[in-house]
Amino acid sequence: MVLLFLIYIARKTKQDVNRINELTMILSHYYLLRRGIIMILICQFCDNDEDSEEAEVDQYNRGFWCSNCDAYTYIYEPETRHRFTLILEDRQNVNTPAPDIRISLKKQMALLRYPGGKSKFIPYLYSKLQESKTKKLVSGYSGGASAEFSFLEAGVIEKLVLNDKDIGIYSLYWTIQNMPNELIYRIQNERPNHKSYFNTQSIIKSDYQGCTILEAAWYTLLLNRLAYSGIYNANPLGGRKGTLSELLSRWNPKELCKRIQRIHQLSDRFVVLNLDACDLIEETYWDDSLTLYLDPPFRQKGKQLYRCHYDTDEHIRLCVLLDSLHMGMPGADIILCYDNDPLIREIYCYPEIEHVGRIYSV
Ligand SMILES: C[S@@+](CC[C@H](N)C(=O)[O-])C[C@H]1O[C@@H](n2cnc3c(N)ncnc32)[C@H](O)[C@@H]1O
Repeated sequence: MVLLFLIYIARKTKQDVNRINELTMILSHYYLLRRGIIMILICQFCDNDEDSEEAEVDQYNRGFWCSNCDAYTYIYEPETRHRFTLILEDRQNVNTPAPDIRISLKKQMALLRYPGGKSKFIPYLYSKLQESKTKKLVSGYSGGASAEFSFLEAGVIEKLVLNDKDIGIYSLYWTIQNMPNELIYRIQNERPNHKSYFNTQSIIKSDYQGCTILEAAWYTLLLNRLAYSGIYNANPLGGRKGTLSELLSRWNPKELCKRIQRIHQLSDRFVVLNLDACDLIEETYWDDSLTLYLDPPFRQKGKQLYRCHYDTDEHIRLCVLLDSLHMGMPGADIILCYDNDPLIREIYCYPEIEHVGRIYSV
């Protein structure tokens, strides 16, 4: 009787299907053990119901795959269920209270001034991490990696995977990990000027043709610190005809070397990759002790801001991949950040959507 009542409620109140499933499981276990009653399992995606004898239950009895739509539904264990969160950034129209977190997270770990950088959102992103998914953070689109380094430094995550398709970004982190002193030596002994700025810009636009990994790291750092907003094809700080002190206003050799050393000290806890993020996601999603942190190029201004960016098809390809992984299998948590764009709002089916804007203290 109780079971039938729960199933009836589950059908009526779609949003609470997980809760009802959980109660059903607990009660059903009891009945199964005592009286041999079969459970009715309801798919949280298509509402199909089937009995537990016919359903494809996973090996740990945590959940089942629906015979109608092939989606995976938890039967119980809600605390550690895998989550998919889509954070839409809208700094103009949305105000977000700062989350109340009890840990100190450094904002000044990163080296790069990165367009779309997340340093202001570090506490907010921290509040989205589940402790059971912090053995590793896999960052598919690392860029300036301010949140990633901050979490690693504070011990919030045990290990970090830094991945970026941009070979300059990859070279910079690889060099910091493997030959930091060579980079530090250049910073301490070379003073950039307008000529070196434009020379660097043309080398980067040629895809670092003929560069060693150390040179690619140096050029990436130099252009980023000297360009307007860190944008690789922008004008130099102070303008094309500006003064040297305007150009070097964000070039602080002492501070840069300090940050390189600080990141280098964490070297045995991070790996650096130069893969297409979708390949990395497919490889790593299956580990349910990790979080996939994904901050792809903005939909609206990505082309202007990054050397590697996405066209519409690639945004859709990422969406199909993430939606289907999350729906089809228990695995990693996914935290996905985007600009608040209509296409992105429309195409995703399964994440919980949150809007975040200017963070203010309460
Ligand atoms: C929005 S930015 C990341 C910003 C970063 N979260 C931060 O806080 O600085 C997007 C990054 O994705 C990288 N990217 C673009 N296409 C990629 C791809 N297919 N695979 C991996 N990285 C890619 C770009 O090079 C860029 O660094």
